[in-house]
Amino acid sequence: MKSFSNKVAIVTGGGGTGIGHNLVMALAEQGAKVAFCDVANLEHTEEKLKALGTTYYSAPVDMSDKAQINDFVDAVLDEFGQIDVLINNAGIALGDRTFAQVTEADFEKITDINYWGVIHTTQRCYPHMIKQPEAAIVNISSSQGILAAPHLVPYCTTKFAVRGFTDSLRAELKLAGVRNLTVHTVHPGAVATNITMNADYVGASSQSFHENLQKGTPPNKAAQIILKGIRKNTGRIFISDGRLQDILARLLPTSYVSVIKLLFKLKKIELH
Ligand SMILES: NC(=O)c1ccc[n+]([C@@H]2O[C@H](COP(=O)([O-])OP(=O)(O)OC[C@H]3O[C@@H](n4cnc5c(N)ncnc54)[C@H](O)[C@@H]3O)[C@@H](O)[C@H]2O)c1
Repeated sequence: MKSFSNKVAIVTGGGGTGIGHNLVMALAEQGAKVAFCDVANLEHTEEKLKALGTTYYSAPVDMSDKAQINDFVDAVLDEFGQIDVLINNAGIALGDRTFAQVTEADFEKITDINYWGVIHTTQRCYPHMIKQPEAAIVNISSSQGILAAPHLVPYCTTKFAVRGFTDSLRAELKLAGVRNLTVHTVHPGAVATNITMNADYVGASSQSFHENLQKGTPPNKAAQIILKGIRKNTGRIFISDGRLQDILARLLPTSYVSVIKLLFKLKKIELH
């Protein structure tokens, strides 16, 4: 995809102040018509889009609710008649919990949003996107979809699943010779958002995790890296220390944990 000009782009989790909000704004600035949804805090993005004079559609949607997702996608098609870009960005971290502390309900909640939300949105958009002359599906996994970090068991599980789904879909389309629809995974390392403090469990370790995240890539820069990756048909898009974590997981597939332990000590991150 050479340009986003006059493309119709959907961003899930585009409210708030995180990567999704910055993706919506960057797409609008690059000439796209944007549609975004979020479970809350849509106003900030809406006000900025109005100030920019962009054509947009927005709606409150809970990504764990398939019917709400379907209604949203259908409304975008009614409004714009096409979908060229889908960025599955909405996601949550559970927070400060070991596997022993995580309940079945915790696991189901994060899986419904981070995994099923991606599947349901992609399934609803795919039949329309495959007919477009130029289209892109972009799923935000994580560096924790490549390197499984401790104290993030449910999060890593969902992000590995998103990577598996996306990589498999890309392989299937490539094998079939499909060229008009490209498929991308995004693997950010640290991006300076509030994801840690927005989690359900904000405990003793959360503040030090949050402070370290703030030293990562600013979310507006992360959005620019993602859009550049789509334009260049990168397939796998890395942000901040995402690529380094990929290399670490390849070189030390099980013993990377000793490196993490050392890094946590150096960065004064306490695990409880
Ligand atoms: N920040 C990082 O360091 C980092 C690293 C790797 C991956 N990611 C991924 O990037 C994506 C964006 O995260 P972020 O860092 O911008 O966090 P964030 O918390 O700032 O943004 C997440 C957005 O998703 C929305 N959301 C949460 N639950 C939802 C639901 N049920 N339905 C609809 N929307 C919902 C939130 O309201 C919020 O606007 C997530 O998928 C996250 O896992 C972030």
